[in-house]
Amino acid sequence: MRKRLRKKLSNVSPEETCEIYNSFDIVGDIAIIRLPSSSRANAETAANAIMNRHRNVKTVLLQASPVSGDLRLRSLKHVAGKTKTSTVHREFSCSLSVDVAKCYFSPRLSHERIRIAKLVEPKETIVNMFAGVGCFSIVIAKHANPDKVFSVDVNPVAIQFMQENIKLNRIYGKVIPLLGDSKEIVTSRLQRVADRVLLPLPEKALEYLPCALSALKASGGWLHYYGLEHAKKTESPAKKAKLKVEEALDDLCVDFEVPFVRVVRSTGPNWFQLVADVRIM
Ligand SMILES: C[S@@+](CC[C@H](N)C(=O)[O-])C[C@H]1O[C@@H](n2cnc3c(N)ncnc32)[C@H](O)[C@@H]1O
Repeated sequence: MRKRLRKKLSNVSPEETCEIYNSFDIVGDIAIIRLPSSSRANAETAANAIMNRHRNVKTVLLQASPVSGDLRLRSLKHVAGKTKTSTVHREFSCSLSVDVAKCYFSPRLSHERIRIAKLVEPKETIVNMFAGVGCFSIVIAKHANPDKVFSVDVNPVAIQFMQENIKLNRIYGKVIPLLGDSKEIVTSRLQRVADRVLLPLPEKALEYLPCALSALKASGGWLHYYGLEHAKKTESPAKKAKLKVEEALDDLCVDFEVPFVRVVRSTGPNWFQLVADVRIM
C-alpha cells in the first residue's frame, strides 16, 4: 500500500504524503480523507490510490471542515467514486448504518465500544446520553445481555439511523431510541434507573456529569466519562483527565473511585481523547 501510494503521490512532499497515510478513515464502503489545505489539490490522486488499495471503497470524501457544533458534524466534499454519504459499517458482527454527512461516526472508537460491552453484566440498565446512530448501544446489546440501553440523541437523523440499526441487528426492545437533549430526557424520564451511564461527548461530559449521576440507581453504578485533554510531552493526559473528573465529583459530594483511565485516541498535536471508568458508591 505504502509503496504504491507513494508512487501516486510523487509530486507531494514527504511530510504531506505521511499525513495522507495516517489521515483517512474507512466507514463501510466510504473513505474519508483529511488533507492539509496546502495539499487539497492532490485529493483526487490520494482518493484513487486509496480506492486501488482498498477494493471495498466505492466513494471517497474529503473532510473540508473540523467536526463541530452540537451535532458534531463536518463538511464533506465528494472526491471520487459513487456520489453518496450513506453506508453500512461492520464491526464486531454489528451492522451500523450511517449517513456520515448528517450524523457523527468514528470507526476509531470501535475498540472502546467493545471494551465497554465486555464490562456490562447481564440484565444491566444502561443510559447512553450521547448515542448518535447507536454504535455503543448496538455493540453492547449484541455482545452483552443488558435489560435495556436507553439511547438519547438530539439529532433526529441519528435517531432514524438508530432505529434502522435496531432492525438491521435484530435487537428489538433492548436499545430504546430517545430523541432530545439528554439533560431534559434524563431529568424527566430516567431518574435512578441505570447501572451504567455513558457520556461519549467530550465537549459536554463535564457539564452533564450531575445529570449522569441522577440517572444512576441509588445503590450506585458505573459512569464512563469521555474527555479531551491537552498534554505536553512531559505531562500525562490520563493523569490530567483523572484529576479533572475527581475534582468535579468531589464538588458533587459523591463517593467514588476511578480505577481505570486510558487514552482512546490522539485528536491533534498534544490533544487526546480519554475515557475514565468511574465507580459511584
Ligand atoms: C461525539 S458524538 C458520539 C456519538 C456516538 N456515541 C458514537 O460514538 O458514534 C456525540 C453525539 O451527541 C449528540 N448530542 C450533542 N448534544 C446532545 C445533547 N444535549 N443531548 C443528547 N445528544 C446530544 C450529537 O448529536 C452526537 O450524535
